[in-house]
This record gives sequence, C-alpha cells and structure tokens, in this order.
Amino acid sequence: MIDVNALSDKWVAEVEAASDLAALDSIRVTALGKKGEITGMMKQMGSLSPEERKETGQALNKLKNAISDAIDARKTDLEDAELDARLAQESVDISQTVRPRRKGTIHPISQTVDEMIAILGEMGFTLAEGPEVEDDYHNFTALNMPADHPARQMQDTFYMNGHSGDEGSLVLRTHTSPVQIRTMLSEKPPIRIICPGRTFRCDSDATHTPMFNQVEGLVIGKDIHMGHLKGCLLDFLRAFFNEPNIKIQLRPSYFPFTEPSAEVDIGCSRQGGELKIGEGNDWLEILGCGMVNPRVLEACNIDPNEYQGFAFGMGIERLAMLKYGIPDLRTFFDGDVRWLDHYGFDALDQPSMVGGLSR
Ligand code: PHE
Repeated sequence: MIDVNALSDKWVAEVEAASDLAALDSIRVTALGKKGEITGMMKQMGSLSPEERKETGQALNKLKNAISDAIDARKTDLEDAELDARLAQESVDISQTVRPRRKGTIHPISQTVDEMIAILGEMGFTLAEGPEVEDDYHNFTALNMPADHPARQMQDTFYMNGHSGDEGSLVLRTHTSPVQIRTMLSEKPPIRIICPGRTFRCDSDATHTPMFNQVEGLVIGKDIHMGHLKGCLLDFLRAFFNEPNIKIQLRPSYFPFTEPSAEVDIGCSRQGGELKIGEGNDWLEILGCGMVNPRVLEACNIDPNEYQGFAFGMGIERLAMLKYGIPDLRTFFDGDVRWLDHYGFDALDQPSMVGGLSR
C-alpha cells in the first residue's frame, strides 16, 4: 500500500525548497508530468483488484492535489518575490524634473508665416512663391523702377558677382514684390495671393539685418478700391493680434509700384514705456501698401481700364517682435537653441482659424 502521507511530505518539502520558477517547474514535471513519478504510479493501477484500485486511486488523487496546491502557492510566492526585486531595481527618482531628451521647436518666423497663411487663407488668398535670386526686370523695372529711377538707390541692393545694375543684372531680391509681377504675368485676374519669403538688403544694425522676411499681398479684380484694401488689412491685423478693436490709419506715402501709396499705422499705447497694440492714442508704423500702379498692370499685360488692384507688404520679423515681445531683431538669426527654446512654438500646434493661432 502507498504511504500517501510520506510521499506528500516529501514532494511538498521539495516544492517549498524550490528557489526559482525554473526549479519549481522541473519539480512539477518530475512529479506530475507525463512521465512523472505520480503519473507512473497511476498507470500501474491497472494490475490492482477493483477494491485496491479504488482506494489507491483516491489516495493518489489526494497526493496529486496536495502537490499541485503546493506548487501553485510556491509559484505565487516566487512571482511576488521576482516582482519585488524588479521594482526595487527599476525605482524612479520622482524628484527629477521631466525633461524630454530632444525637443524641436518651430521658429517664430515660421510660426508667424503660418499664422498669416491661416488668416489670409481663410480670406481667400492663395500662396505664391518666387526665386530669391531675381533679375533686375522683375525686382525693379516691371515695378515701375526703370534703370535711372532714384528709388533703386533706396533699396541697398546686393548684386550677384559680375552684375552691376545694368539691365538684365541678377540681384538678391530686395522685396517680395517681384512675386506680384511673376504671378500677374502667369495668371489671369482675378488674382488674390500672398507671398511670404526671404528678402535681402545691404544693411546691418540693431534694426536691420542683411536678410529678413517679408510677406506681400496682391489682389487684382474689377472695381477693387482702397476701401477693400483698408478692410482687408483691418481684418487681418485684428485677427493676427487677436485684438478686435484695433484701429489703423493710412498715411500718404510713396512707392513706385503703387498709386496712391500709403503707410499703415496701428493704434497703440506706450504708457510707462510699455508698448501695447490695440489700445491708447499712439500710432506705430507697420506696413506699406497702395493701389497697384497702372504702369505695373500694363507691364504685366493687364488692362488698367478693366482691372484694378491693391498690394501690401510687411516685415515678418517686425510683426513677430510686436506680437511675441521679442526685443532684438538680430537674435532671430543667431541660431541659439536657448533662444529657440524660449521663443519657439510646439510643432504639433498648427495655427488655424478654428483651432487658434498660437498657444
Ligand atoms: N515692397 C515694398 C517694400 O519692400 C513694400 C510694399 C509692398 C509696399 C506692396 C506697397 C505695396 O518696401
């Protein structure tokens, strides 16, 4: 007769001594596996008398259950111990600040351009682009600045090597206005475009950098007048600065490519040395604009008796500085990551009129 109690004590003791999960599993196989000891004893029951078989069967089942229970209990203990050990090893120092290892930001220039596109895009403008290395014709002549025009001198032009200002010279474009010309030459009115991009002038001090960004707007259609220009700028500036009560004033000015021309001032306050857009009784100049000069339309094969238009141009850095309180123009181009960390924008916050311009 099998001594179930002795066998049970032996196996349970072995199970309890198992030092890890692998050892425990090998004990399970030795006792209860297909070729295991207890399984072997069960197989031999065939040779017993019915009486003995019943008794032995019950005893062996009891033994099997005792071993299984012991294995389950030991398994839980070992798993708990393993988890505790892992947790102790993987401890997190919660006094450390969370610092993403590599975080790119969107440069304020790109952000400002994206915001302008969001606003003006909603107003029906589409995006146009042109080359940064321009020819004299598109940068000057077609914009009503023939070779001897004094306005050319005002533009501090960079000429490409070997070019000196004769007709056909190549220049770094001094403004985004040549994109107007390229668009009017290649598209039929009505036209409604904005062209943001890099521009270049040989000038460098606290408020000028040799490379800077402009955005140009152009609308050509029938019966377009200065009221449309003023309304368009007002809507744009109110959305851009998020100030619904912004006032603007148009001051007469001169650009060869617009007639009449105006400079636009935006209402502001300078009280206590702090500049606030949209309040107070002061004015701050922010952009140039006007009705497209009929001679420019003619140069682009558009009949000025049938079509009129307006254009405006503004400095992107200047708008970004005003909106985001960036004090120094030159820092835009230093490539200093600390500056970018401070003034940059989250890449996933795309400006839009429904989602908001900047967060
Ligand atoms: N191109 C002009 C400049 O750079 C700005 C401007 C654009 C003025 C369009 C009027 C109309 O000074």
